[in-house]
Amino acid sequence: MAHRNTDIIPTIEGLAYGGDYNPEQWPREVWDEDVRLMREAGVNLVSVNIFAWAGINPGPGEWDFTRLDAIMDLLAAGGVKADLATSTASPPPWFSQAHPETLPVNPEGIRLNSGARAEYCPHAPVFQAAVVDMATRLAERYADHPALAMWHVGNEYYRSCTCDHAADAFRAWLQDRYGDLDGLNAAWGTTFWSQTYSDWTQVLPPRICAETPNPGLVLDFRRFSSDALLALFRSEAAAIEQHSPDKPITTNAMVTGNFSGLDYHRWGEHMTGPNRLVATDHYLLPDDPIGWPEQAAFGADASRGLAAGDPWLLMEQSSNSSAWRRGYFAKKPGDLLRHSLSYVARGSEGAMFFQWRASRYGAERYHSAMVPHGGTDSKVFREVKQFGAWLKDLAEIKGSTVDSRAAILLDFISCWAANTPGQPSADMDTYPELRRWHAALWRRGVTTDLANPEWDLSGYEYVFAPHLYLLDDDANLRAYVENGGTLVVGPYSGIVDANDRVHPGLPGALGGLMGVRVEEFVPIPNGDKASLENGWEGETWSEVTHATDAETVVSFKDYPETGAVFRRRLGRGEVWYLATRLADLDPFLAELGIASDLPEGLELVRRSHEHGPSYTFAINHGKDPAPVPATGRNLLTGAAWTEEDTLEPGGCAVIRRE
Ligand code: GLA
Ligand code: GLA
Repeated sequence: MAHRNTDIIPTIEGLAYGGDYNPEQWPREVWDEDVRLMREAGVNLVSVNIFAWAGINPGPGEWDFTRLDAIMDLLAAGGVKADLATSTASPPPWFSQAHPETLPVNPEGIRLNSGARAEYCPHAPVFQAAVVDMATRLAERYADHPALAMWHVGNEYYRSCTCDHAADAFRAWLQDRYGDLDGLNAAWGTTFWSQTYSDWTQVLPPRICAETPNPGLVLDFRRFSSDALLALFRSEAAAIEQHSPDKPITTNAMVTGNFSGLDYHRWGEHMTGPNRLVATDHYLLPDDPIGWPEQAAFGADASRGLAAGDPWLLMEQSSNSSAWRRGYFAKKPGDLLRHSLSYVARGSEGAMFFQWRASRYGAERYHSAMVPHGGTDSKVFREVKQFGAWLKDLAEIKGSTVDSRAAILLDFISCWAANTPGQPSADMDTYPELRRWHAALWRRGVTTDLANPEWDLSGYEYVFAPHLYLLDDDANLRAYVENGGTLVVGPYSGIVDANDRVHPGLPGALGGLMGVRVEEFVPIPNGDKASLENGWEGETWSEVTHATDAETVVSFKDYPETGAVFRRRLGRGEVWYLATRLADLDPFLAELGIASDLPEGLELVRRSHEHGPSYTFAINHGKDPAPVPATGRNLLTGAAWTEEDTLEPGGCAVIRRE
């Protein structure tokens, strides 16, 4: 993959380290201690002003930058750079009171109240003007400040709204997409249930209605909502660029768990390239079928996907428990080091946390921090310092990129479409399935990208499409296979077109490529399994599928005339089709020839400079000492590493090949 920008934060020497810093929550004497501790921990970048609108702009027409000036000056004097936020993620109560139409309306038609954060309608013209004004004032004032390293626009965009402003904006977006009402009616199939529109004013956002809404409408509203937030981000970015043309601009995307609410690949196009960078927030979930090391790896690989393979920055993670989970949890000793290193191994140009110092008050008063409530004489702060020291030792990896040989296909629109109401199975959820495949590949030591199905896939040995429900046509995947790739397609893929209309003839867009015909769907109830003749089991989904131009590799036990696993050789490559969700992916991956000779729990990833050294990152999450197949120098200790060396349980090494 061609890299567009490998120097994403030029003013930071080496790798970035720090977190969200909210000095407005603390008296001035604490600030001095903060900077002293930041230096002790090796912190060189903090995100400031994320939730400080009320301080800068305490009332209509009132502006006061005294405190932010003092914070920026303090950081500059302390040698810490600022990721300066525009503070637009949380309009203060006075703003909502003065402009009630900027408060968001939920699908039930209830206007939300102020009192938490993110209480804005992205489509309200007053709000849109206010955020551009804010970004402009900040950029004018701080463009040349010595502390400024980069700009942080908004925070974790996700809000959607169904108010009248939203309805107007939705109609305009649809007019742009479909031209006229005939186009819209055809795209959504509005002859169904007499939904044909005869005037644009009849088109509404998906507000609560009597029965199942039109899936084409639901899908387009999600596209529109993602685009509207992207436009909001871009409006602030454009304002900043006018006054501060030479500093990178970002916002923090969310890659935690199954979050897939925005079309981040489309966002990625506006977050990569000159003076842009992809930054993401990733939190480990305690109540998830996938373990923490695999979760961290997925979050990192998904982030690299938003950056289309360029380096990116982990903007937020937690040192311990997060505040928004049911139940407090603590990380085990060393977890902070192992997880943070995994993100760096997978392309992050450093490691940032939410947050520097734990808040005494507010909704997140029990959210962990680099400086915990328990103080600096603590496991957390000792590990924070340790990791800061490691990042200094790793400075030379800055700008290197990650080597991967496999990709899992992720299309956010397809994820949404698979979740529209009225599906044959409510359990064919895409994102958890992609994470399950990713974890299985992780266990076999395969570094896997999360790639969009439209991208150039030619560099990958394996491409997995575990669930690609929505796909217009097979052109890109066919070219990949014909040119020598191995494509694996999971069930219920290629079923609908871009408007969630079922392709004629099952399984739709990929039937010709895979050489199979699906006669009917046979979803498997939760808890049940389908047996395959070779002992494998399927769950959630099965089908009556016949080979038309493919080899039936494995059939269902009870229905031997019905194939479960198919293979077709085509051109220089091959395509596999799975007509069920395999309960255990390991035997299939072994069948594909993906060896598993790694010791259990050993994570191995390689980063390389285009014209320079490469680095093997080794993290031992297992219980036994593990041999690491690399020779060179371990940058974390400075000592030589040979093939005879083993990594102790819980240990980490970064070996530069010499
Ligand atoms: C009812 C309705 C039909 C159709 C079926 C589907 O019978 O009258 O229009 O929705 O349910 O089961
Ligand atoms: C998100 C937000 C932060 C904070 C953390 C807590 O990442 O961006 O402001 O709320 O979650 O986990």
